[in-house]
Amino acid sequence: MQTVLSGIRSTGHLHLGNYFGALRNFVRIQDDYNCYYFIADLHSLTTHPHPDDFHANVRTILAEYLAAGLDPEKVTIFVQSDVPEVSELYVLLNMISYKGELERTTTFKDKVRLAKAKARNVRLEDVAEDDHNDEGINISAGLLTYPVLMAADILIHRADFVPVGKDQEQHLEYARVLARRFNNMYGEEVFTEPRAFNFGSGLIKVPGLDGSGKMGKSEGNGIYLYDDEKTITKKVMKALTDSGPVEPNSPMPECIENLFTLMALVSEPSTVEYFKEKWNDCSIRYGDLKKQLAADICKVTLPIRERIDAIYNDDAYLHKVVSEGRDKARTSASATLALARKAMGFKVF
Ligand code: ADP
Ligand code: TRP
Repeated sequence: MQTVLSGIRSTGHLHLGNYFGALRNFVRIQDDYNCYYFIADLHSLTTHPHPDDFHANVRTILAEYLAAGLDPEKVTIFVQSDVPEVSELYVLLNMISYKGELERTTTFKDKVRLAKAKARNVRLEDVAEDDHNDEGINISAGLLTYPVLMAADILIHRADFVPVGKDQEQHLEYARVLARRFNNMYGEEVFTEPRAFNFGSGLIKVPGLDGSGKMGKSEGNGIYLYDDEKTITKKVMKALTDSGPVEPNSPMPECIENLFTLMALVSEPSTVEYFKEKWNDCSIRYGDLKKQLAADICKVTLPIRERIDAIYNDDAYLHKVVSEGRDKARTSASATLALARKAMGFKVF
């Protein structure tokens, strides 16, 4: 059986982007692959969570994983920091990672630019792409080497496939680079080159409903699995729209296309078709579209939501899931780490 691995950072509740970009796929393939799914608590440290929230955040993702249908009888579910072998491999991989290539990572560049804009109290567009002035900002080395830790997560279980959203494509490519580089440098096939898992449909980007860009925690535009019906409806009804099409078959502005993108994920194809026709003949009423969209989102998320609290509060169950997961993950991780150490020349005295 081939191996699938993925993780989500523990930085708050999961939103529809996480669900459709990642978690739904995790669940769909759990019968067909040897799956490892984890909670990336070490990665969440790049944003310095308060120690009081740290554990609760891990627990939240764990409960939402299980509520969405991940079955610990079928897959290995674990917490990243419970597997110290990952941190050791991270040290080893850092030695073959180059500062220049890490600095060119899009997510890193974006975060640095954002930090500069904030520190200087200017708009993002006012910070030049090639601005090298780091004065007044403190970018952690952990942020720079974020893709190295992610590569360690993946390579340590010799994963064949990694289901992630489009925003993680470049990080995944870096894991491939490091696997290849390590194998070439040490002349052994220690690591497997992982591939994206995209179900033949390409990687998904779930848009936000505020006009442009993706849905994300840091974007502040999330519709969460944990939101109740009222909250979801309110968020959808507030979605940005324009004044409506004036000519038949006009191209859609981004804000309207985003509503349709979301609708394609949650509604029946005939519903999407119905509203597309209304767009094309200019009779569309955005209020109706939004009401339908909210109802269809609820159909997907409310059954998951119903299960979250009970799981979150079940200490004994959660303890059992993560401790069994940790043991399985450590067994797999230590076997790969031993191969990497041997290839590099470490020996036991
Ligand atoms: P966020 O971007 O909200 O902080 P994470 O970075 O923790 O979320 O992402 C966890 C997983 O969810 C990743 O696989 C990521 O690709 C996916 N994901 C997050 N946002 C989206 C989105 N808007 N569309 C598709 N996938 C997404
Ligand atoms: N970087 C991923 C994100 O922000 C989370 C993550 C960490 C991950 N390690 C991973 C995803 C390994 C897949 C495989 O969403």
